[in-house]
Amino acid sequence: MIDRRSPNDKLLSHDASRLEEAAGGPIDLAIVLGSGLSSALRDSFSHVSIPYDTLLGMPVASLRGHAGEALVGTWHGKRVAAFAGRVHLYQGFSPIQVTVNVRLAHAAGAKMVILTNAAGGLRDDMQPGDLMLISDHLNLTGRNPLMGYPHENPFVDMLDAYSPRLRAIAKSVVKPGVRLSEGVYAGLLGPNYETAAEARYLRTIGADAVGMSTVLETIFARCLGMGVLGISMITNIVGAPDTNHAEVTAQGAASGPHLAELIGDVLGKL
Ligand code: HPA
Repeated sequence: MIDRRSPNDKLLSHDASRLEEAAGGPIDLAIVLGSGLSSALRDSFSHVSIPYDTLLGMPVASLRGHAGEALVGTWHGKRVAAFAGRVHLYQGFSPIQVTVNVRLAHAAGAKMVILTNAAGGLRDDMQPGDLMLISDHLNLTGRNPLMGYPHENPFVDMLDAYSPRLRAIAKSVVKPGVRLSEGVYAGLLGPNYETAAEARYLRTIGADAVGMSTVLETIFARCLGMGVLGISMITNIVGAPDTNHAEVTAQGAASGPHLAELIGDVLGKL
């Protein structure tokens, strides 16, 4: 078979050792932080920061500015690596590159991953600031990270890809006043937001929220046998006028503390 692993994958064991060293042992779980969420998590547990540009295999979005960092530490007794910053297909990265975080976490020992994202709400009962547990997804990116990847079984079972057990735990710990629903996340390529016709189409095919990440990471995590908890922060309502990135990021930052608290409470129950 053609070896389609990125050269980055060959560096994973080096990077995994760095995470394990920083955590004082194998990582129990990884968290991937969506737009605006990083600062809330930074304040939630004591950690060391490993900048992505010091990890040999981690793709970085830009040579200038803030490329991202792994926040590694112990939270509720669990060794955690939280990835503050991810790369996206719409930035021109390949499906293999956007899933390096998942393979790195797995190589460092993680048995589960909590994937978070900013998403547009498609349901009438949603409002910005809501959280949505992802019950299932529609991979509408037209891409798949397992295509050509030399894994012994790429024919991954995706029923209950988003762990019912982890979702039940999340529902059991949610604090009063936090609006948490459950629904189907549609993952699109982006980077533009949806046309009115696309929004109608997404509702018709059963999507409750739409975003530009997460689905490929879930596919790879399931291929590796990891448990997945997916949580969307509804940052805007699809179809509302003038949706823009600044609004999405600002609402992500505003909802961040609620989501960080929910994640901490889930960890406490594992
Ligand atoms: N559409 C797609 N992706 C998004 C949105 C949206 O409305 N909001 C945040 N990410």
